[in-house]
Amino acid sequence: MFAVMDKKWLKLGLTLGGFIIFVYLLSDLFLLNHATEKRYLIDKKTTIENFKKNKTYFMNVIITGATKGIGLAIAEKFAAEGFNLALNARNADDLKSLKKTFAEKFPNIEVLVKKTDMSKKTQVQSFAKFVLSKWKTVDILINNAGVFLPGEITKEADGTLESQINTNLYSAYYLTRAILPTMLKKSRSKKASNKKHIFNMCSIASQIAYPNGGSYSISKFALLGFSKVLREEMKDKGIRVTSILPGATWSNSWAGVDLPQSRLMLASDIANATWGAWTMSSSAVVEDIVIRPQLGDL
Ligand SMILES: NC(=O)c1ccc[n+]([C@@H]2O[C@H](COP(=O)([O-])OP(=O)(O)OC[C@H]3O[C@@H](n4cnc5c(N)ncnc54)[C@H](OP(=O)(O)O)[C@@H]3O)[C@@H](O)[C@H]2O)c1
Repeated sequence: MFAVMDKKWLKLGLTLGGFIIFVYLLSDLFLLNHATEKRYLIDKKTTIENFKKNKTYFMNVIITGATKGIGLAIAEKFAAEGFNLALNARNADDLKSLKKTFAEKFPNIEVLVKKTDMSKKTQVQSFAKFVLSKWKTVDILINNAGVFLPGEITKEADGTLESQINTNLYSAYYLTRAILPTMLKKSRSKKASNKKHIFNMCSIASQIAYPNGGSYSISKFALLGFSKVLREEMKDKGIRVTSILPGATWSNSWAGVDLPQSRLMLASDIANATWGAWTMSSSAVVEDIVIRPQLGDL
């Protein structure tokens, strides 16, 4: 009798034990899955972040005349967003110290610098050659270098028009011709950007003539013409072209002017507008950025 009872208890015990082990294993499996899923999510997030980083780091931007003023502000903006930079100016010491500052501030990006006088065709071409020897692709070209010599057509020194046409127009024309074939090449890399973009730093003086604008205004009208022709030619080639037309912006060009700094725009305003235009989807292009001080032109 007791033997039969023992067997029953034993059976019950075994069933109960088995059930407990089953529930334990099931919950363990669930927790394990949960943990794995959590880890997967973390990994996935990290992977997305890495991908974003790599994607951004992959992009290469050329900015001419980048040691001061608007060019420098644009370089800082794109560096902070993780883009590699190729910069130029005429002063080698300024370029050297800029490279050092950027290396400390933005250690994850590559910064190429080369002393270049953008008013000289041969130097423009050797700058392009230098950049293309380092980079297989160029995503953004910012033709910013420019010079402002006030004057009037009948009063300005002989050669004023020529020198400003050289710096403000031919610089952009020859650099674009040298870089564009590389920008037009389709990259096989999945990480390559489909947001190729050329910016041309025109001016309010590209749109209206004003007293003492002289040859500067003529050269900037011409640059806007170049930019519009380029926009037309690049429409079906997937390269966006933007003309930037800033009004008075605080920079070296305004040194010594008897005005409060707040009357003018900040170079960073132009940099933010440039960045904003780039961030649009690849199906949209900001053709012109016209940006003035709140109180209007000077
Ligand atoms: N500031 C304004 O109010 C204003 C308004 C409308 C348009 N813009 C346009 O914006 C652009 C930048 O002007 P900014 O006011 O920022 O000028 P900025 O403060 O005088 O700086 C000019 C930059 O370009 C470089 N540069 C000048 N001539 C060059 C040349 N021949 N080759 C290579 N680099 C050269 C300068 O360095 P190096 O001297 O060492 O060469 C410097 O890095 C210009 O195209 C200008 O016409 C300015």
